Amino acid sequence: MKIFVAGATGAVGRPLIAQLRRLGHDVVALSRSKEKAQTLLEQGVELAIADVFDADAVKAAVIRAQPEVVIEQLTSLPKTYTGESMSTAAALNTRIRLEGGANVLAAAQAAGVRRYLRQSIAFWAVPGTGLADEETTLAFDASKAVAADILTVTEIERRLLETPNIEGIALRYGFFYGPGTWFAPDGDVAQQVRQQQFPIVGNGEGVWSWLHIEDAAIATVAAVERGNPGIYLITDDQPLEVRVWLSAYARWLNAPPPPQVSVEQALQVSGADAVYYGTQMRGASNAKAKRELNFQPRQLEWMVDTAVACAS
Ligand SMILES: NC(=O)c1ccc[n+]([C@@H]2O[C@H](COP(=O)([O-])OP(=O)(O)OC[C@H]3O[C@@H](n4cnc5c(N)ncnc54)[C@H](OP(=O)(O)O)[C@@H]3O)[C@@H](O)[C@H]2O)c1
Repeated sequence: MKIFVAGATGAVGRPLIAQLRRLGHDVVALSRSKEKAQTLLEQGVELAIADVFDADAVKAAVIRAQPEVVIEQLTSLPKTYTGESMSTAAALNTRIRLEGGANVLAAAQAAGVRRYLRQSIAFWAVPGTGLADEETTLAFDASKAVAADILTVTEIERRLLETPNIEGIALRYGFFYGPGTWFAPDGDVAQQVRQQQFPIVGNGEGVWSWLHIEDAAIATVAAVERGNPGIYLITDDQPLEVRVWLSAYARWLNAPPPPQVSVEQALQVSGADAVYYGTQMRGASNAKAKRELNFQPRQLEWMVDTAVACAS
């Protein structure tokens, strides 16, 4: 199959391209920089050099490529994961999702693309008991930045799923971990945890759903090949409360135990978003992805090691 990938050089783009090439797909990758995309060339990928905000250039690139499928993995997120860096990046990240994404989608329509898959996010179901599924309402009244992100994501998913004549699939990924992510041993969160800068907030009952970056790529390829139009939550099998995963993560990194701060302290120092992620976030169910995509995610890297350490 001929597949056009926007965001091919990012954290999920890199393993995705490797998977697609391994399976024999022809890939055209959008990047702003020939230098950055050099390794893609070496993998036999054709490059389309353009800025996603240049609608005409993107349209010309997709029409030239004539792909059957487009995959959009565009983000503009920082290499550090702090309240400050995320809020500095927020405006451009929103713009890339809305305006950049709209340009790629319009180009796909103009080129007569059959199927379009895009990155979306699994973190934002309304707080409650049990796991959220694809139908669960989102937390529109969450903290300011979370609520703003939810509005953006709702809009980009709506646009895609309502686009006529295209099979649209939104992949709501869990928290990425693995090479090139914030949670890799050389990533920013690992560094913060080593310095005891990443605390458990309150009693740490926010539930996080995880996704290894390679599993994100595997699920995406499965959705290309046999997904049904609509939304999929792509997360691992073991959503975990912050107090559980963060303590295990610190042990795995040989870091000191994470400090604990009260909700009031977190509100003062880090703001309402930190409280949302630390105490209110709800885990997501991957049942649909397992059923329809035969998705078989691996166990969270540092929980595997914890189990081994406990058993020995
Ligand atoms: N679900 C999650 O947990 C989640 C989701 C996304 C990201 N993250 C985290 O965020 C961090 C950074 O993510 P990342 O590696 O994907 O980001 P990144 O390295 O900034 O990659 C973003 C991709 O978007 C493309 N892009 C950005 N602006 C563009 C533009 N104007 N025109 C064309 N293409 C553009 C980039 O292409 P070029 O630079 O080649 O042009 C690149 O391929 C990582 O730690 C990752 O784990 C987490």
